[in-house]
Order: sequence, then structure tokens, then C-alpha cells
Amino acid sequence: MTGRLKGLRMTSEKGNVIVLTGASGGIGRALALELAQPGTYFALIARDADRLQPILQEVCAKGASGEVAAIDIRERAQLHDYLLDLDARHPVDVVIANAGVTAGLGPDRTRESDADCERLTEINYQGVVNTVTGIVDAMQKRGRGQIVLISSLAGMRALPDMPSYSATKAAVIAYGHSLRGWLKPFGVSVTIICPGFVTTPMSARHKGSKPFEMNAEKAARLMRRAMERRKAFFAFPFVLALGIRLQNLLPPVLGDLFMGGFAADIEADPRYSAGSENPSNDSKSD
Ligand SMILES: NC(=O)c1ccc[n+]([C@@H]2O[C@H](COP(=O)([O-])OP(=O)(O)OC[C@H]3O[C@@H](n4cnc5c(N)ncnc54)[C@H](OP(=O)(O)O)[C@@H]3O)[C@@H](O)[C@H]2O)c1
Repeated sequence: MTGRLKGLRMTSEKGNVIVLTGASGGIGRALALELAQPGTYFALIARDADRLQPILQEVCAKGASGEVAAIDIRERAQLHDYLLDLDARHPVDVVIANAGVTAGLGPDRTRESDADCERLTEINYQGVVNTVTGIVDAMQKRGRGQIVLISSLAGMRALPDMPSYSATKAAVIAYGHSLRGWLKPFGVSVTIICPGFVTTPMSARHKGSKPFEMNAEKAARLMRRAMERRKAFFAFPFVLALGIRLQNLLPPVLGDLFMGGFAADIEADPRYSAGSENPSNDSKSD
């Protein structure tokens, strides 16, 4: 990126301070690299410090600096304590709530497991809320800041095989719209981003049609531009987002026909398999 994020005021002579959750792989890593520039200070958050550390080294090689924090975003108290401490040391300009997980129907198109439903809600929605509430008081008091929420096209129109995932992403969109109305008078902007299919470990487990899939680097470039412009809402790729907007104008039963083309099996996430959570599993595939 050339130049700092447009429209973001400096907190110090050092430059922007960016909190990024889900920074240990996929879109998070690509975003960190896209936003890295001399003067930027990153707080890179995910559960697995071993995967965060090399990404911190990569952003430092581009002239940025920062720290890693191995925190599960479901652990609200721990996350808030950390963000409070971070903000006292490095007043935060931008928070990007990117961490998320996926899951779909059970074998032979049986219902989602109870554990998956809970996990998706706790991470994809409550985890986003925990991230925002850990920093929003400080931003509101300072009268500046940018909150970026990573939702999904599945939040604009639910995918037939991913009920809870789609619902959590729709909740993130609704949360973001509400935040924007509340926070605008306080100088804090909110950008909701809805990616389509992006090549990452998450999408590798999505076994089905993935039209207009793009690599994480290109996705990160588009997301960075939307952030710079402080867009209220950014959905991409354009053609797929347009198709979803148009089908949302149809009666739901006709929309269901359109969405039938997106049938998929979602492979289990090895980092959250069968009751035992281990963020190190399968981690080296990023
Ligand atoms: N890839 C796509 O096609 C696509 C499309 C639309 C939207 N999205 C959204 O984009 C975001 C990033 O997706 P991705 O494809 O990059 O996924 P990914 O490759 O699976 O990466 C997910 C990231 O979230 C972190 N994470 C998972 N559970 C966490 C927890 N409880 N606490 C803290 N961090 C946690 C993971 O690190 P640890 O496991 O180490 O914690 C990892 O860094 C997600 O919100 C996803 O829903 C992705």
C-alpha cells in the first residue's frame, strides 16, 4: 500500500495502530501483509501464537511493527483486558473483526450438530461483539476510529447448506449497520465487508461450486480500498454480489432456486474437531 489509510488520523508520529483478529492465516494474513507499511503497529490476534509469530515477522519485514496475542475471541474478559492494555500503550485506530469459523450440515444432509451451532454463534457473532466492545469505548471517547466487520455474501443471502454460518454472518451485518448509526456522530466509522469465495483453508473445506473464487491477496487489496474509502458496506466480487442483490428482490421461493446452485458439503474443521479444540491442527496449510 502506498501512503497511510486515507482519512485515518494518526494517533502519534508512529502511524496507524491496527487490531486484526483471525490474523494467523487466510484472509487475516493477507490483510496484514496488504496493510503493512512503515509506521503501522499491528496487534495480531488468533488462538495459535506459533502461527501468528511468522506473520508478525512478515509484516515487520515490510517496515511495520507490532505484537501477537494468543486469545480466543470467545474469552471476553481476557480479550477486553488485553485490548484495554494495548490501547493504553498504542491508541487503536482500526479494529478489524475478521476471525471466523465455518460448518455446514451433518453427514447425508442431516442437521447441523449442536456443538457446531453453538461454536459458530459464539465465534462468528459473539466473538465479533466481544472484539468491538473491547475497543469501542476508547474510540468513542477519542472521537475517532474505524471498525471493520468481516461478514460474508452468505450473510446477504443464506446458503442452503450452511444455516448457522449464514445466520451468524447476517447478524454481523445487522450489528454493523446499527453500530454505524450510533457511532457516526462520535467520529467512529464502521465498514461492513462481505467477501465471496476466497482461497483460504476455510474455503478449501467448502466442497461445492465456488463461482468467482479469488486469491486472498486480491481479496485483501479490494478490502483495503474499501477501508480507505470508509465504505459503509462493501460486497465482492461485484458480479456475485449483484446477483445476490437482484435475487433478494425475487419472492423467496424463486430465490431458493438460484441458491440451489450453491449446494456444498462443508468438511469438518480439524482445529475444532469432535469436541477437542486444537488450533495447531492443520495449521501449516495456510
Ligand atoms: N474464505 C472465504 O471464502 C470467506 C468468504 C466469506 C467470508 N469469509 C470470512 O472471512 C473471515 C476469515 O476467513 P478465512 O477464510 O481467512 O478463514 P481461515 O483461513 O479458517 O482463518 C480463520 C482465522 O480465524 C482464527 N480463529 C478461529 N477461531 C478463533 C477464535 N475462537 N478466536 C480467535 N481467532 C480464531 C483462526 O486462527 P486460530 O485457529 O489459530 O484461532 C484464523 O486465523 C471469516 O470471518 C470468514 O467467515 C471467508
